[in-house]
Amino acid sequence: MRFSERVFCGRLTSDDVGRRVLLAGWVDAFRDHGGLIFVHLRDRSGIVQIVFSPETASCEVCQRAASLRSEYCVAVKGEVRNRLPGTENPGIETGTIEVMTTELIVLSESDTLPFAVSEKAMVAGAASGEADHVSEDLRLQYRYLDIRRPSMRDNLTSRHRIFQTVRQFLDSRGFVEIETPALTMSTPEGARDYLVPSRLHPRSFYALPQSPQLFKQLLMIGGIERYFQLARCFRDEDLRPNRQPEFTQLDIEASFIDEESLYELTEELVVKMFAVGGISPARPFPRMTYAQAMDTTGSDRPDLRFGLRLVDVTDVFTETGYAIFRQVLEQGGRIKGLNLKGQSDRLSKNVLQNEYAKEIAPSFGAKGMTWMRAGNGRLESNIVQFFSSRELDRLRSRFAVDDGDVLIMVADPSPEVVTSALGQLRLHLAKRLDLIPDDAFCPVWITDFPLFEPTEQGGVTSSHHPFTAPDRTDFDPADVEELLTLRSRAYDLVVNGEELGGGSIRISDRGLQRKIFTALGLTDEEVNERFGFFLRAFDFGPPPHGGLALGMDRTVSMILRTPSIREVIAFPKNRSAVCPLTGAPTPVKREQLAELGLLDLGSREVLPGAAEKEDRIDRLSWLSRIGIAAEERAVMAETLKQAEELALIAAGSAGEDEPMYTVVPLANRMRPGTVERRCELSRTGDLLKNAPSVKNGYFKVAGILE
Ligand code: AMO
Repeated sequence: MRFSERVFCGRLTSDDVGRRVLLAGWVDAFRDHGGLIFVHLRDRSGIVQIVFSPETASCEVCQRAASLRSEYCVAVKGEVRNRLPGTENPGIETGTIEVMTTELIVLSESDTLPFAVSEKAMVAGAASGEADHVSEDLRLQYRYLDIRRPSMRDNLTSRHRIFQTVRQFLDSRGFVEIETPALTMSTPEGARDYLVPSRLHPRSFYALPQSPQLFKQLLMIGGIERYFQLARCFRDEDLRPNRQPEFTQLDIEASFIDEESLYELTEELVVKMFAVGGISPARPFPRMTYAQAMDTTGSDRPDLRFGLRLVDVTDVFTETGYAIFRQVLEQGGRIKGLNLKGQSDRLSKNVLQNEYAKEIAPSFGAKGMTWMRAGNGRLESNIVQFFSSRELDRLRSRFAVDDGDVLIMVADPSPEVVTSALGQLRLHLAKRLDLIPDDAFCPVWITDFPLFEPTEQGGVTSSHHPFTAPDRTDFDPADVEELLTLRSRAYDLVVNGEELGGGSIRISDRGLQRKIFTALGLTDEEVNERFGFFLRAFDFGPPPHGGLALGMDRTVSMILRTPSIREVIAFPKNRSAVCPLTGAPTPVKREQLAELGLLDLGSREVLPGAAEKEDRIDRLSWLSRIGIAAEERAVMAETLKQAEELALIAAGSAGEDEPMYTVVPLANRMRPGTVERRCELSRTGDLLKNAPSVKNGYFKVAGILE
C-alpha cells in the first residue's frame, strides 16, 4: 500500500461509488455480525463504515479484522458502494455509503482505552460515547487520546481557522507579525512573573513575559507603525476558570492612531473571527463608561444579554422611618435595587427571605437584602409596614412596578458594597430564572476607567498598566486624592460578561511617563533599574501610539461555545496549574540546581518579614478551595489560633508523654446504650447546601486534598 494514494474517510461521497480506495486511520467502533464485520474507520476528516465480508475479502483478512479493537491504527483497501436501503446512518456524513474491504494492514495496536474516544454511534439513533462524564484530569493525562475525539479535533481546527482569519485580516490592513522575546525582563501586568534561571549568569533570571507590552511599544518607537503577534503570555496568578498560567494573546499596536480607529479596526476583526462560529454581532459595538457600567450593572464586565439594571433609590428614603435604611443613610450610604419583572411566581417569600436575604446576599458581601413582591396593586414583604405610602408609591414609580414583579434592594454605608453585592445578585438571579438567552452575543466597550486604584498602604497602583495615558496631565503625583480622580484612556472589550480584551492609548512623553512612575511610588533608582532601557527609548522621538490585546483562548472558547478555555487549548494546565500529562511542574535534580547556581537558594532561609506577609487564611482558602469569605475570616482566624494553641500544648507534652494528637483511621464510637442517629441536616440535604461543589453526597475539595 502506498500512502500517497490515500484518500480521506470523511470526504467520500456517493460520487465515489465503484471506486477502489486506500484509507488509513483508527478503529472508532466495530460490530461483529457473525462473520460480517463492520468498522467505523476514523481519520481527521471524519468517519466511514468499512465492511469485511467473506464475499469480498479473503478468509485471512476477515480473521484479522475479527481481532481489531478500538483505536487500532489500520490501513485498508476496498471498493466504495451504496449502503443497502434501511442501513443508512445519518449520524455520520458518509452515512449513505460504505467501503467493502479487500485488504487490511494493522499499522499498530492499542491498549484498552482509559475512556471512550468514539463519539458516533454505528447504528442510527443509538447512544454514542460519553467522554463528557470522564474526569477532566483523566482527559488531560491522556490528552492525545482526548484530541482524537472529533469534538476536540474540531475545536483545535476551528481555533486554527480563527487564527488564520486574524492573520489574513491584519495583513490586509498593513500590520506586520513580529515575535518578541520569551526570555526577557519583567513586564508589569499585575501578576507574578515566572522566572527562568540563567546557567551562564548564575543567580540571574529571565522573566517570561506577562505580555509583550514593553516590546510592542519599542517596536512603535522603532518605526514599525503597525504590529501584531499571536503571543504566548505567562502569568503566575490566582487561578480562575477562565485563566491559564500560560495563554495566548492577539497583541496589536499601532502608531498615529486614536481610540476611534482602534475600535473600528477591532470591531471589524472581531466580527470576522465570530463569523467562523456562525455568529454575527451587530456593529458598532455599544459603549459604556466604567461609571455607567458599575452604576447600572454593578460590574465593569457587564453582561448585557439581559436587562435587570440597578436602580438608585437612595433619595426615596431620605426621611424614612425604617431604622436599617435610616442608619445606612446617616452614614452616607446608598440604597439600590433591581426589579425582577413578572417573577413573583418563581420567587416565593421563603426563597427571598431564607435563601436570598439570609444566605446568598450575605455571601456576596451585603449585610442583608430587602425584598418586596407586587400583587393586587400593592407591595408586600415582611417589612413593608415600616414604609410610608409615599415611599412605596415612589418605589413603584421608580422601578415601574407591575403586579407580579419582585423588587430586591441592598442598603449599605459603603456604595461599593451595594454595587458589588447587587451586581452579583443580578447574575445569580438571571441564571436561576433563566433570563440569559442561549445564543446571544452582546459586546460592549468599557471606557474611562479610573487610572489608579488605591492600595492598602495608602498609595496608588495602576488599574491597567503604568503605560496607559491619563485623561489629563496637570496632576500632582504626590496627591493621592487627586490621582484617584484621574481617568485613563484605556478600553476593555467585554462580551457576555467576559473580558475578551483590553488596551489603551499609551503615554508617549517621557516626562509624563516618569511622573506616573513617581505617582506609583517608585524612586528614580527603582525606575531606572526596572524601566531605564524603556524610558531611554522615549528620548528618541517616540510617536503617539496605542493598541490592545485580545485573549485568544477566551475568544475562541466563546466563539465555539465551549464550557471552558481548556477545551480550546491543546495541552492546558488543570485547575491547580498542573499538566496532568507531563506532571509539570516537577522537582529537578540537585545537579541541575547546582549547575544553575541555585542550590543554596533552595535553603530554608526565610526572607525578613516573609512569614508575616504570608496570609494564612488566604492560603487556607486557596488550598482547601472552600473559599473563605470576608465575613468568615474572623471565625477562621480564631479557629486557627485555637488549633495552634492545641498544637503547642501537644508539642509541650511531647517530651515526657506521647503527643496528644495522632493520625489514625476515624470511626464513629457511640456511647453504650445510645442509638446512632443521622443529623437532620444531612437527611434533608441542607448539610452540604453551601458547599461550592458536591459529589455523591460528599463535599468536593481540590485534588490535592482528595
Ligand atoms: P490584559 O492584561 O488585559 O492586557 O490582557 C489582555 C487579555 O488577555 C486575556 N488574559 C488571559 N487569558 C487567559 N488566561 C489568563 N491568565 C489571562 N490573563 C489575561 C484576557 C485579557 O482581556 N498588555 C495589555 C494589553 C494592551 O494594553 O495592549 C494586556 O496584557 O482576555
